[in-house]
Amino acid sequence: MKTLILPIDGQSLEMAKNIIISGGLVAFPTETVYGLGANALSGEAVRAVYAAKGRPSDNPLIAHVHKDFDITTLVTDIPDYAALLAEAFLPGPLTMVYRSKGVVCPEVSCGLDTLAIRVPSHEGAQRFLKAVNLPIAAPSANVSKHVSPVTAEHVFDDLNGKIPLILDGGKCTGGIESTVLDCTGAVPCVLRSGLVTRDMVAQVAGECDEYHMVEGERVRSPGMKYKHYSPRCKTALFSYNDRFNALDEYKTCIAQGLRAYIMCDAAVAADMGDAAVLNLGVDENQVAANLYDKLREGERVADILIAIAPQKQDGVMVGVMNRLTKACG
Ligand code: TXA
Ligand code: MG
Repeated sequence: MKTLILPIDGQSLEMAKNIIISGGLVAFPTETVYGLGANALSGEAVRAVYAAKGRPSDNPLIAHVHKDFDITTLVTDIPDYAALLAEAFLPGPLTMVYRSKGVVCPEVSCGLDTLAIRVPSHEGAQRFLKAVNLPIAAPSANVSKHVSPVTAEHVFDDLNGKIPLILDGGKCTGGIESTVLDCTGAVPCVLRSGLVTRDMVAQVAGECDEYHMVEGERVRSPGMKYKHYSPRCKTALFSYNDRFNALDEYKTCIAQGLRAYIMCDAAVAADMGDAAVLNLGVDENQVAANLYDKLREGERVADILIAIAPQKQDGVMVGVMNRLTKACG
């Protein structure tokens, strides 16, 4: 199958709509990462998503809808705090998990009685979702376990030949996947951290819990148990306090003739002398936005990628560190 990359316009949206309606897959941009979309009402279409990615069939997908979509057709028992959160943060990088009405096919939630819903703010995503006017099941548009894509080229590198169309909306500005928030309990609970932080949720909802996987317990967000975000090169991860040990490791690798690169934020880069650095930028939002792009650049240019954690570890950095640990730890 030939994979087209097209800018988002009337013609490509018409093509996207026809592909989705006939059970096919379309990759589309969001403000976080690119998604690989299928009609969430069609079991066959959703199974094709798992097949194209090589994704385990017990890791549920998020249903994406446009901002005027009535989500009460899909889910029930929406608590008051969720309405406040939706008012504050949607459209945007916050996915909310509710009790499902069982309207979308069971393959989306892997048989769970809940459904994750996301209303992305990216204009191209909204235009695509409006054009199809269907709930679109979409995981990140990468091969399972690889680094999530933040450009159309990243999607192409992973899925060329497996999908007919990639809608090109430029580089994603958010850079890490949406916050996944369980809204089925009395208090919202962060299942996956992202750009909408636990503090931001708590400020609106009054309280917010955070889920931590307990060994042996049934996982509440199945995606958390899998290895993720792995660049295809050797990696090492050092803490901020160990940054000069990381520099020593870099020099040892270079002396052995390896193509070594250090990946770190701008503050740490200032301590790295003339080492080859993949610079993630100055503040937490820049670091999040550049993380996957630099991991993918790293796997292209490096034999070994030596990542150094930023000093700051709260707010958006919780989500960044979660990905960095899974990618390089
Ligand atoms: O930013 C994002 O969320 C991107 C873009 C494309 O929207 N999508 C994304 O999808 O990251 P994916 O499939 O890579 O991750 C979905 C996460 C997984 O950790 C999955 O376990 C969790 O959401 N999830 C989905 N449905 C769930 C449910 N019913 N209950 C709990 N967790 C769920
Ligand atoms: Mg993913």
